[in-house]
Amino acid sequence: MRVQIVEVGPRDGLQNESGIVPAAAKIALIHKLIEAGLKRIEASSFVNPKWIPQLADADEVLQGINRSQEVTLSALVPNIRGLERARQCGLTEIALFMSASQTHNQKNINKRIEDTYPILREVAQEALALGMKVRGYISTVFGCPYEGNVPLDNSRRVTEALLEMGVYEISLGDTIGVATPKQVHEVFGELVKDVTNERLAAHFHDTRGTGLANVAAALEEGIRIFDSSIGGLGGCPYAPGAAGNISTEDLVYMLHGMGYETGVDLEKLIEAGAYIGQQLGKELPSKVLRASLAS
Ligand code: HMG
Ligand code: MG
Repeated sequence: MRVQIVEVGPRDGLQNESGIVPAAAKIALIHKLIEAGLKRIEASSFVNPKWIPQLADADEVLQGINRSQEVTLSALVPNIRGLERARQCGLTEIALFMSASQTHNQKNINKRIEDTYPILREVAQEALALGMKVRGYISTVFGCPYEGNVPLDNSRRVTEALLEMGVYEISLGDTIGVATPKQVHEVFGELVKDVTNERLAAHFHDTRGTGLANVAAALEEGIRIFDSSIGGLGGCPYAPGAAGNISTEDLVYMLHGMGYETGVDLEKLIEAGAYIGQQLGKELPSKVLRASLAS
């Protein structure tokens, strides 16, 4: 049984670090992740650099990575300006993003949900015309830092809109890490009926320690695509209290132990985690990384 991992550390991880990691170190990290066998890597964000200064060097980073046909590099794109930057860097995949809750959408991308649709529709249309693949994210599916509970119907409506735009896969985000396995069963159990499991990914942040339990629940619902972050880095600067994504090292360790194949070499992955921990000058949350560095 195969599980796909989408490594989001260079984007979701580094966007939330207070220190700015130099482009050369970001490029070295991405090369180590490729070396470890990761085939899908979200390398940066083509957003307004004033909003996310940590990733203002997205163009330089993308241009510095040694490309291979086997590895898909992607980046977040919020508007046509971002798409143009992605095109200039030769990206073959981009990711659109918006939220299931109105307030998080407004705080994160400065517009209401209904005003976001036409912008993303145009980006998707142009990206598809350029031959790019388009992924979609929905944030705050499991809870919003401003609104609390988010009705499942909100996520259903955004899902339908993104599919209509032509996205090939939708990643459902637990932006602030509030989900528990019961809710994961409920949400994925419902949405797989509309979307099918092959087109849904799970994006868990591990703020409250339920991240891997949520992965186990999503696996039971047939989900086989998981976003995770090297070292457990991550968070959303426009979601107060959001901690890191589930760690790629911990995810791979658990999946291998459960008999799933990922194509990832755990030892090399740990080297990548140790590298970025050193660059940031701190101990990262990944349990497998900590256990390995301690032994
Ligand atoms: P805005 O300020 O409303 O944008 O931001 P605007 O269209 O009015 O433009 C303002 C200025 O920004 C202009 O420059 C634009 O050219 C420039 P000026 O004329 O003032 O000199 N600009 C850009 N520059 C470079 N690249 C661009 C770009 N766009 C505008 N693409 C916008 C609207 C959406 C751009 C802004 O709100 C933004 O960048 N937001 C991004 C926030 C973000 O990245 N959040 C974190 C990622 S989402 C996340 O982490 C959740 C996820 O992980 C899933 C989960 O966990 O739930 C995906
Ligand atoms: Mg995230």
